[in-house]
Amino acid sequence: MTASKTILRALAGETLPTPPIWMMRQAGRYLPEYKATRAQAGDFLSLCYNPELAAEVTLQPIRRYGFDAAILFADILLLPQALGADLWFETGEGPRLSTITSGAELANLKPVEDIHETLNPVYETVKILSEELPKETTLIGFAGAPWTVATYMIAGHGTPDQGPAHALKAEGKTTFEGILDRLTEGTIEYLSRQIQAGAEVVKIFDSWAGSLQGTDFNDYSLKPMQRITSAIKERHPGVPVIAFPRGAGQDYEGAHAATGADCIALDDGVTAEWAAGAVQKDGCVQGNLASSHMVTGGDALISETKRICQAFNQGPHIFNLGHGITPDADPKNVAIMIETVRNA
Ligand code: CP3
Repeated sequence: MTASKTILRALAGETLPTPPIWMMRQAGRYLPEYKATRAQAGDFLSLCYNPELAAEVTLQPIRRYGFDAAILFADILLLPQALGADLWFETGEGPRLSTITSGAELANLKPVEDIHETLNPVYETVKILSEELPKETTLIGFAGAPWTVATYMIAGHGTPDQGPAHALKAEGKTTFEGILDRLTEGTIEYLSRQIQAGAEVVKIFDSWAGSLQGTDFNDYSLKPMQRITSAIKERHPGVPVIAFPRGAGQDYEGAHAATGADCIALDDGVTAEWAAGAVQKDGCVQGNLASSHMVTGGDALISETKRICQAFNQGPHIFNLGHGITPDADPKNVAIMIETVRNA
């Protein structure tokens, strides 16, 4: 029964005695079973495009820990690939893409209608999951926010300061805004298909929002997320949206209204005590335990988990980390975090 799923209740604004919990990158390299399935698939992208195996790794952390939500196993960079950019992963170094920095290269991208040819296996994964997940577990679909995806498309790889994207914004604004527009349109179609296939919630990851300041933050992080959210709400009334403008700092205040999202995901750069007053007053929040506790464990893991639960216990809250769990995390610490949340 949909109405009893705890994540959907929190997203609808309900204050629950125990916050529901899931974890960014919960299917990942800290789990031996993930590594085994990944080895079976060959490489990371083959795993993303293999519906049976992608569904299997999505289910692994649900079986092991009983999280309240499963997040589709895929990547934010599949969309640029579906638009025609080359994408590959260098072992130990992360993603590589063919760059888009000129109007001609932008014009060469495929039309948005064509993305599904590449992305169909992802929708197939969603379908398998909506059949195989336990009935109390919520299925979350996702995409990257246009700014964050654009930073990889413009640079051709991850960057510490998103320098190449800032340079294009300054020197080639028309091309820069054209890339963001194309990604915004593509993201609406991509998320819409995930919802049609069975995703019950969608999350938009703006992992590099924190490098945008002032009007740039407004125009290139919040506004595109707002466009995506309002299109999703128009097409799929009742499907909640989580927005994650990571690194927004004090700009987290007002993010519910500015994005139209049902829930704002918080990184660990803001305190839960501040965010309870500044952000949770406007709706559900998700977060925000520092991922390092999954590596270090001990008393600090327990006391920090309790502190965050307590700070957010007067309003709607989904417990999560402030960012993804890292490969050096100890799977035992995840179990301790969950037990602490559920017994807090
Ligand atoms: O959260 C989940 O478990 C769902 C799956 C998921 C992945 N990536 C799988 C993945 C999600 C939601 C993402 C989002 C993603 N991908 C973001 C935004 C969120 C964030 O973490 O800030 C970004 C920036 C990417 C792009 C990306 N993908 C990078 C930079 C890398 C390399 C860094 C790394 O962690 O290896 C990836 C690879 C990636 N995406 C892995 C996983 C499990 C590791 C691949 C492997 O198995 O080697």
